[in-house]
Amino acid sequence: MSWNTVTLDVADGVARLTVDRPDALNAMNSETLDEIGDAIAEAEREEARVLVLTGAGDDAFIAGADIDYMKEFSTPEALAYAERGQDVVRDLLSYPGVTIAAINGYAFGGGCEFALACDLRVASERAMIGQTEIDLGIIPGWGGTQLLQRLVPDETARRLILFGERLDASDAHERGLIGEVVAHGELYDHVDEMAAELAAKPRHALYAAKESLNAFHEGGIESGLNVERRAWSGLFGTPDQREGMAAFVEKRDPEFE
Ligand code: COA
Repeated sequence: MSWNTVTLDVADGVARLTVDRPDALNAMNSETLDEIGDAIAEAEREEARVLVLTGAGDDAFIAGADIDYMKEFSTPEALAYAERGQDVVRDLLSYPGVTIAAINGYAFGGGCEFALACDLRVASERAMIGQTEIDLGIIPGWGGTQLLQRLVPDETARRLILFGERLDASDAHERGLIGEVVAHGELYDHVDEMAAELAAKPRHALYAAKESLNAFHEGGIESGLNVERRAWSGLFGTPDQREGMAAFVEKRDPEFE
């Protein structure tokens, strides 16, 4: 299958899904979201036991949702977009095999959320990660308010979302967002080794282990996603959202109310 903004390579039970919009640091518009969803489904059809998510190029994993694309959204448009982003989060959470985010650079906003939705996270020493939405006049809308809480203490999640902190790889590792930091040039060799080791495990046990581990967190996630989706989309059209996103696109500092 061929797509415009993602590529998928499957070999020896391992699928590598690469988001490929280098001109926008792999930021995601609706085409990208659709294609990521299609590529995950294709990896599942091809029975890849391990799915690696990464970004094309040397600078970015995924720099977030595409701000230029969504800056004029109405609340109903934003709600529909939140639903689509959260569908991808669900696709990653419910992928039967193991998902690994190979974080090769910037992972902000939706990029951070998709990394958090993977089972494991390995980062290059050059990676930067964070839920940066607050400085655009919005909040995380693709699961960040729920997924961060699964990984880090409540106080850390609050600090990340309320301050919109951008963590470097070692800080993110120290605070529990990512499992491992490796030299930039060694990221894919390292992830390939991990993926090969996991792909050689007994399939049904691997899938059952993931399903059971996920069950621990499942209680509140649907109601949490629902609250987040409504809160996120309700911010579209507010003066601060319009100002925050216009300022980004116009490359200037925002002036909030
Ligand atoms: N949406 C749309 N376009 C984006 C983007 C995003 N989330 N992130 C980066 N881009 C685009 C820039 O507009 C720029 O496009 P241009 O070359 O046409 O002007 C290009 O990618 C390169 O980005 P630039 O900001 O010039 O690179 P940089 O190295 O100075 O900074 C970042 C990189 C990632 C620090 C910066 O782009 C950034 O802060 N991006 C937004 C991150 C964010 O808040 N994401 C959450 C969105 S909800």
